Amino acid sequence: MDVLVIGAGAAGLMCAIAAGQRSRRVLVVDHANKVGKKILMSGGGRCNFTNTGATPANYLSANPHFAKSALARYTPADFIALVEKHRIAYHEKELGQLFCDDSSKQIVRMLLDECAAADVTVEANCGVQRVRKTPEGFSVLTARGEVHAESLVVASGGLSIPSMGASGFGYELARQFGHAVLPMRAGLVPLTLSGKHQEHYQDLAGVALPAVETRVGKQSFRAGLLFTHRGISGPAILQISSYWKPGDDLRIDLLPDQQAGEWLIGQRAARPLAELKTVLGDVLPKRLAQRLCEQWFESRPMRQYRDAELGQIGTQLNAWPITASGTEGYRTAEVTLGGVDTDGLSSSTMQSKLVPGLYFIGEVVDVTGWLGGYNFQWAWASGQAAGEAV
Ligand code: FDA
Repeated sequence: MDVLVIGAGAAGLMCAIAAGQRSRRVLVVDHANKVGKKILMSGGGRCNFTNTGATPANYLSANPHFAKSALARYTPADFIALVEKHRIAYHEKELGQLFCDDSSKQIVRMLLDECAAADVTVEANCGVQRVRKTPEGFSVLTARGEVHAESLVVASGGLSIPSMGASGFGYELARQFGHAVLPMRAGLVPLTLSGKHQEHYQDLAGVALPAVETRVGKQSFRAGLLFTHRGISGPAILQISSYWKPGDDLRIDLLPDQQAGEWLIGQRAARPLAELKTVLGDVLPKRLAQRLCEQWFESRPMRQYRDAELGQIGTQLNAWPITASGTEGYRTAEVTLGGVDTDGLSSSTMQSKLVPGLYFIGEVVDVTGWLGGYNFQWAWASGQAAGEAV
């Protein structure tokens, strides 16, 4: 065997296709009973397979330059061309996010058809027990016996959704071969509340706001927010969760389109007899407006508030003082932050600088995208980069 790929997910299959097309003899093994499980469950079953606006700025990594080369050489347009070649209908949902019209099964089918056309062998139900370096390459003990390969590609993904086959295998293998592994944590994940914050908001579960602005430090995202039984979720929370660590100051602007204090003063002039909760209920979900009034200030007719009071209320609305206590963790996270340190890898081929013939691609590497198709684009691009080199 020329190339053994561990992990038949997005990155592993892409790498196998590129290598197979170069007439390399390729075997892909996966311990799960089905390949591409995360592709199947992605995008609510419709796979948000890329983002037309993907640039290196949409990724988190200890080395923000690392992803540049692979992303520049395999672009969203390249993957779209593949999707179109297979006549898979797709649409843009918003903000450059492309989804299948029908089903994410079509993306897995497309990848497996390309593997077949490139003479790649793909084996599910085939875990890996041990990996040894040999003078010729690698000797790998799999559930189907010993496999010898010149190049070994680790595409075993991150830790999120263990019930779907996620494992820490790739990180252990990296350490075995002397690679540094940066601390991992769940990303693109709902945040939890505790204590009085949870008590105040837990019965709002299901209440949604279409546009808030979440901020941690200099990073901000404008998108929807959803209350859950244990905390807060929705795209604006998932996005900022990748930048948030326990103890960090999280700011949520509930009315990002206006300076809320001035707006309230204007409302007082226009509707002096209306109660504050009624006025807020016009721009926020009514149950949330009521809860904020109960908590912060009693709801009185607008004419009874002084400028300073409305200014204070406005400040709270533009920087909602909510403290997250943690995240929902890998059980529900879309991605794993951190992982194999890019310092030990070539940014053009993904090959180890320590062990010739060893490659790391996809989510196992310390490159993590935003929500919106960016993580698959990294899987395709890093898979293609390694597939051209193995
Ligand atoms: P991936 O996880 O795809 O593949 C790794 C493979 O390795 C798995 O098949 C696993 O079984 C196998 N494996 C693990 N350990 C092994 C071992 N010891 N031996 C053998 N095999 C092993 N991204 C995006 O861009 N758009 C989207 O719509 C979504 N949606 C989404 C929804 C949900 C619910 C989740 C959890 C994640 C997403 N993502 C996403 C993220 C995206 O799925 C993820 O970033 C990519 O699948 C990563 O691709 P990889 O190939 O690196 O890992």
